[in-house]
Amino acid sequence: MKLRAVLFDAYGTLFDVYSVALLAEQLFPGQGERLAVIWRDKQIDYTRLVSMSGRYRPFWELTRAGLRFACTRLGLTLDAAAEERLMNQYHHLSAFPENHAVLAELQRRGVPAGILSNGDPAMLQVAVKSAGFADALQHLISVDAVQRYKTDPAAYALGPQALGLPAREILFVSSNGWDAIGATWFGYATLWVNRSGLPLDPLGTEPTRTGSSLRDVLDFF
Ligand code: LAC
Repeated sequence: MKLRAVLFDAYGTLFDVYSVALLAEQLFPGQGERLAVIWRDKQIDYTRLVSMSGRYRPFWELTRAGLRFACTRLGLTLDAAAEERLMNQYHHLSAFPENHAVLAELQRRGVPAGILSNGDPAMLQVAVKSAGFADALQHLISVDAVQRYKTDPAAYALGPQALGLPAREILFVSSNGWDAIGATWFGYATLWVNRSGLPLDPLGTEPTRTGSSLRDVLDFF
């Protein structure tokens, strides 16, 4: 099957969600890495909680709730100034080093590219602009349009709708194993960019391919 476009997950795939650990470490010495991990886990937990219960709230709010939980869990006092600094850092996450070159090469090859993310539109716009990706991404698709988080099929359905292509002709790329599986179930061709060498979730479904950096996207086109 010829693939005609590519959609990227944003957080964890294009943007390094653990890059907040650096600032977290400055604010809370010795706790930065743990804080970043609990923050991310809770943020994703909350997307599932509100989505399954039909109580959608934007990703920005859930990100803030995750940060507050993580600090309480670690016994850290998060004052308003520290909270704003950490949340602001989330607006400007570092991109993984190879991403610029890969997006530029896709553009050179004429492959339409975009984002399909849990992030709300304002968050995505700032992050994409701040990373310098705006020219390379023609579609910024947020699940906010259906108020259902991935892995709800309604969220994945936004991709084919926006691109006017069937899911099987779109490559969906994620570094989140669960997201790669959800997209595979939906019908996309998928690449799991397994940056940290994690085991596959043993649920009887494999992504179309597994890679280790965003560069592996280029092999599809
Ligand atoms: C996203 C989350 C899953 O960008 O990282 O959709």
